[in-house]
Amino acid sequence: MANEGMREVWATGSANWVRHQLLYDAVFAPFTTALLAAAGLAPGQRVLDVGCGTGTLLEAAVAAGAHPVGVDISASMAAAARRRVPGARVLVADAQDDDLLAAAQGAPFDRVVSRFGVMFFADPCAAFANLRAATAPGARLAFVCWRADEQDLFELGLRPLLARLDDPPGPSPSGVPGPLGLAEGAHVRRVLAASGWQDVTVEPVDGVCDYGVDGSDGVAERMAIVLGGRAGQAVRADLEPRLGPAGWDAAVEAGRQEVRERMVDGVVRFVAHAWLVTAGRESGRGSHNSTLA
Ligand SMILES: C[S@@+](CC[C@H](N)C(=O)[O-])C[C@H]1O[C@@H](n2cnc3c(N)ncnc32)[C@H](O)[C@@H]1O
Repeated sequence: MANEGMREVWATGSANWVRHQLLYDAVFAPFTTALLAAAGLAPGQRVLDVGCGTGTLLEAAVAAGAHPVGVDISASMAAAARRRVPGARVLVADAQDDDLLAAAQGAPFDRVVSRFGVMFFADPCAAFANLRAATAPGARLAFVCWRADEQDLFELGLRPLLARLDDPPGPSPSGVPGPLGLAEGAHVRRVLAASGWQDVTVEPVDGVCDYGVDGSDGVAERMAIVLGGRAGQAVRADLEPRLGPAGWDAAVEAGRQEVRERMVDGVVRFVAHAWLVTAGRESGRGSHNSTLA
């Protein structure tokens, strides 16, 4: 299957997201707000949330009076979304290849939305064509994805630990399935055009990620996110046996110090960079064959 590797990544990668779902929501609030403003959710709409994770947008759709369906390749993300939003239908499926309309049952979708859930496809053209095939004429697409050169979000607090690896990984690559898979605006436009979406807009949106929760300074919260993520776990598996408990604690303290140096007014806050992407499907009948020029 096309996204089998990503299925495995998210089978384990979901644990951190489920555990810290409210923290992720707090940190990503500016992007959620921008996305929801662009999506224009309204009562009665059928809404598809792609890579729905623990259900933030599903919850917003229910609050708007819409009828949301979530799709996620990770069973534990889908289970968390069902717990959080009992009024939503949540599918465990591959949004690239599976017949989402058949799986969801009911009318085609009026809105397709995603918060950072569409960058992981092995074949983005096929995926966005598949999403379009599940929509009604006149449907709208709105999503946010990370922009080229975003690094702090993935590395702040980890850099001193990464530097101690024998073979430190380079920055996240742009344009390959992963967090920066749609990081180039021109690539996003090509993919959406090739998959039949029209009226494409790709606008930068910069948001302040604030890790302070309930009066905390956000250092522990930031470290929990980065150490619990895939890169953090890999670093720990490598360094902790080599450094021993005291050495590992010292390495983590160096990570905390990197985070403290980025505090603003006593709280960890930094600007992250995303694209806000919108597109539409023509309102009449029409067919489209997907090919990337
Ligand atoms: C970065 S997380 C974002 C989760 C959620 N949208 C949020 O903002 O909290 C990416 C999500 O996309 C899902 N995902 C990745 N590839 C997918 C695919 N091919 N089909 C469906 N979901 C996928 C992952 O399982 C994960 O839940």
